[in-house]
Amino acid sequence: MDFREDGAAALDWAARYLERVDELPVLAQVRPGELTAKLPESAPEQAEPFSSVLSDLDELIVPALTNWQHPRFFAYFAVTASEPGILAELLAATLNQVAILWRASPASTELELRVVDWVRQLLGLPDGWHGHIEDTASTSTLAALIAARHVTGRNVVVCSEHAHSSVEKGARMLGMELRKAPADESLAMRVPDDLSEVAAVVATVGTTSFASVDPVRELAERAHAAGAWLHVDAAYAGPSWICEEERWSQDGVELADSLVINPHKWLLVPMDCSLLWTSRPEEFREAFSLTPEYLRTADDAYALADYGPALGRRFRSLKLWAVLRCYGAEGLRAILREHMRLARLFASWVEESPDWELCAPVRFSLVVFRRRGSDEDNEELLSRANASGEIFLSHTRLGGRYVLRLAIGNARTSEADVRRAWEVLNR
Ligand SMILES: Cc1ncc(COP(=O)(O)O)c(C=O)c1O
Repeated sequence: MDFREDGAAALDWAARYLERVDELPVLAQVRPGELTAKLPESAPEQAEPFSSVLSDLDELIVPALTNWQHPRFFAYFAVTASEPGILAELLAATLNQVAILWRASPASTELELRVVDWVRQLLGLPDGWHGHIEDTASTSTLAALIAARHVTGRNVVVCSEHAHSSVEKGARMLGMELRKAPADESLAMRVPDDLSEVAAVVATVGTTSFASVDPVRELAERAHAAGAWLHVDAAYAGPSWICEEERWSQDGVELADSLVINPHKWLLVPMDCSLLWTSRPEEFREAFSLTPEYLRTADDAYALADYGPALGRRFRSLKLWAVLRCYGAEGLRAILREHMRLARLFASWVEESPDWELCAPVRFSLVVFRRRGSDEDNEELLSRANASGEIFLSHTRLGGRYVLRLAIGNARTSEADVRRAWEVLNR
């Protein structure tokens, strides 16, 4: 292959995709198995040119994409892979660092520590916390539960009924017992009375369904009094703390034993990039540190693999570094503030309309609402709206009722896109 020529074509393809992504349907308009049927059943025996891969991208892959980069993607938590992050991914693959320990990639190890610390400062988190990058919040929370079990010698995890499924999955994978605490009318976790056998309490800031916020301070104080570990899952909402006015939701987070936030959710970094901090680095490290003879060297006092499950680690800090530098904190704040403004604007239309109702307080950039009528009406409405290809929203249940979620998180989303969503839903 001609790396320069094919590379230029790939970059051109990427630029064209981003320029016209808003003309594509947001939700893939294909049936299950449709792509599989078009793909050869086995790998080619003879080499093919890279241009064939690019043309198949248009022919086969694009029609089967749900376009997460689309400005009218409002489902789950909407995300952005920004241009600096995309280019840094190309460079990270070019360098192909496998940062198993310091000498295997001094650059990856040291840039990661420095850049994660930049984010710590931007979010207003305490000095002295140790942070590193995992792939996803699911892995970060799994690591936190492993550390909590190691430190406490206990086997019970407590979280809210509204906590993300990754907490339950983590507990299940570790053979730990999960206890879900009920939430109050504000959708915040009620603080359980008895935490005496508990290894970890997981508090969520910005729950997946409603973006509600658990009482972190009270949970931390009660957890610590009972000898338990307090892990905070702020995977989605944590990035909002770069804006001072959103730090109300940070109350008590300084007491956490560990905290996860996802720059791949709401800090413009391409999937995947999850930041995990601990205020107890020594104990945290003890849970993971294990150096076999073939990795033992005189200068390898430091390995980020000692803070999580994986040995081989990607150069993820490169894209985080690029995004932080190319937007600047100011640029990132402006984008997040606009997302939150758009969410409040959409919510105001819902509130003003007799046909719709707001179902939960608007937090961060998420609106939870429904059309007045039955669950079936709302389900039917959502499926028709999504089938239009013009917008993509997802749903959840609140008190048994089917409710719709409009999540704003794409840097390309404008007021016109949010207005269009409102028009489509009403149509
Ligand atoms: C609150 C919360 N925690 C954790 C996760 C899991 O994130 P990941 O996909 O990075 O594992 C999500 C995903 O939406 C989430 O909303």
